[in-house]
Amino acid sequence: MDKKRIGVLTGGGDCAGLNPAIKWVVKTALDDRLRKSRKVEHEVIGIRDGWKGLVEPEVEGEPSASRLFTLTEEMVRTWDRYGGTNLGTSRTNPYDPKKDRSQTVLENLKRFKIDYLIAIGGEDTLGVANKLYREGVKIVGIPKTIDKDLSGTDYTLGFETALNVITEEIDRLRTTAGSHRRIFVVETMGRHAGWLALEGGESSGAYIILIPEYDFDLNRVNELLMEGRRKGTRYEIIVVAEGAKPLGGSEIFKENGVDSFGHKALGGVGEFLANQITALTKIETRSIVLSHLQRGGAPCAYDRRMGRYFGIAAIDLIVKEDFGKMVSYRNGTITAVPLEEAVGKLNLVDVKTQYDTERYNGRRCILC
Ligand code: F6P
Repeated sequence: MDKKRIGVLTGGGDCAGLNPAIKWVVKTALDDRLRKSRKVEHEVIGIRDGWKGLVEPEVEGEPSASRLFTLTEEMVRTWDRYGGTNLGTSRTNPYDPKKDRSQTVLENLKRFKIDYLIAIGGEDTLGVANKLYREGVKIVGIPKTIDKDLSGTDYTLGFETALNVITEEIDRLRTTAGSHRRIFVVETMGRHAGWLALEGGESSGAYIILIPEYDFDLNRVNELLMEGRRKGTRYEIIVVAEGAKPLGGSEIFKENGVDSFGHKALGGVGEFLANQITALTKIETRSIVLSHLQRGGAPCAYDRRMGRYFGIAAIDLIVKEDFGKMVSYRNGTITAVPLEEAVGKLNLVDVKTQYDTERYNGRRCILC
């Protein structure tokens, strides 16, 4: 029987849903019944630490330790219950313009006899996957990112679990905010996309939601808050995306410098806003940054199921020899789109149809 090696890696920021996807890649590839009908025997190689595993397969200082190892069904049996990624991840970019190591990746794929590769990641990881595909690598992608900013799919792993975290944390904040009659500003992640803030704010019933796709006017925020108090509210919750910015202002970054994909670390708009609101309204305002809590914890039921379907579909693509594709969820169906389409441009909130620019909140008109 023909033998083929499938490498699997997770790259970029971790999130819930990665381990379920890995588990189902392994189980589907090694499935006994399917092996007979495919007439191919697969071996699945786990690649640790994202693209770093293919750039530096040996762990520094430990020449005998490899970042590549065989995954068995027994090993991954319980993985769908766990958050993060048991393969580890990194933000290593083999195509970093300052130090291009893409040739090393290609050499290592040959050296370790990896016939096919599955990259689980967001725009950066899948951007690398697309470039490798153009160099002849037989590769498929699985979408993940709590930011949900990848094109070509309605869902990216990790998003629903992150929404659950936002909702639970805001539920907790409500009791303390109400007791003290305070305003709370909750800063979410999401980079340049407002999905986490918008859908997290909608799920938790936030009073004001501010997203990167629509610059906010501080005077309007103030008006809305005063209106709330006039109507008798004791407290307000404002959800602000880390990439949101005031009219005429710019994004706020927590540190200078860029990572190897050229991203600057966003952060601080929540505190900025809380200070501005206190000054304008004279109401005590606190801010909280949910930060990496949104990426942590066990995957919710939806991420376990989507991880499963995406993992199975990735192996289906390999069996069909349909490379250069990303598995995707579109209009209620699991399908696949070219990697090129997925990474070409960011999927952002459509302000016209999904955001209420008067109330700074989710739309109040759905079938109209
Ligand atoms: O892309 C996922 C994400 O969590 C963003 O929402 C956030 O801006 C960034 O990663 C944080 O990256 P790091 O984990 O490197 O701080």
